[in-house]
Amino acid sequence: MKFFIDTANLDQIKEAQQLGVLDGVTTNPSLMAKEGITGHDNIIKHYIDICEIVDGDVSAEVVATDFDGIVREGEALAELHEQIVVKVPMIKDGVKALKYFSDKGIRTNCTLVFSPGQALLAAKAGATYVSPFLGRLDDISTDGLNLISEMRLIYDNYGFATQILAASIRHTMHVIDCAKIGADVMTGPLSAIEGLLKHPLTDIGLEKFLADYRKGNP
Ligand code: G3P
Repeated sequence: MKFFIDTANLDQIKEAQQLGVLDGVTTNPSLMAKEGITGHDNIIKHYIDICEIVDGDVSAEVVATDFDGIVREGEALAELHEQIVVKVPMIKDGVKALKYFSDKGIRTNCTLVFSPGQALLAAKAGATYVSPFLGRLDDISTDGLNLISEMRLIYDNYGFATQILAASIRHTMHVIDCAKIGADVMTGPLSAIEGLLKHPLTDIGLEKFLADYRKGNP
C-alpha cells in the first residue's frame, strides 16, 4: 500500500518524508488556499518545491472545466516535473481529458469520485489513479468504505491497471480499513499516518524495559 500525504504544507510533507514511509503527495485548490498559496506563479513554484522534497508522485489539480482548458493546463503541469500527476475532476470533459492524457502517456488522478459508476468510467478512460472520497461520503451517512470495496471488485474483475487512491481519509482506522480492502494507495493527513504508531502497551512496555535496564545499570 502506498502512503501519500494530503496537504500542501511543506513542513508536514518534510516530516512525513523523514519518517521514511512516504510515497507521494496529493494537493487540491482548497489545500493550496489553506497554506496561503495563491496566484499562478506561486502555485507552480509550490508544486516544484513539493517535488523536490519527496521522491514519489505529486498530484497537481487543474482548475479548468472544459476539455481544451483541462488539456492545456494538464500538459503545462506535467511539463513542470516528472513526478507530477495531473489531477482531473470527474466530469464529462474530465473523462475525455483522461483518455487524451492516457494516450499521450501523461499520468492522471481522477478526483471527486463518489460512485462505482464514476470509478468504472475513469478506469475505462485510462486514469492512473482514481480517488474515491471516503470521508465526504461518511459525512453524509453513506458508507465510504463500501465504495472502496466495490471499486476493488470491479477493477479486479477486469484487471484494470488503474490504482485506487483512497482519499478524504480522516483518521487512522480509515487507513487500516482501506488496507484490509486492498486500496492501492491512501492519502490522508499526517495525523492519520502517525496514528498508526500509537499503542499504550508499547509505551508502558518501553517504560518498563528502560526502568529495568536503569536498575541493573545505575
Ligand atoms: O484528497 C482529497 C481530499 O483532499 C479531500 O479531503 O477532508 O477535504 O474531504 P477532505
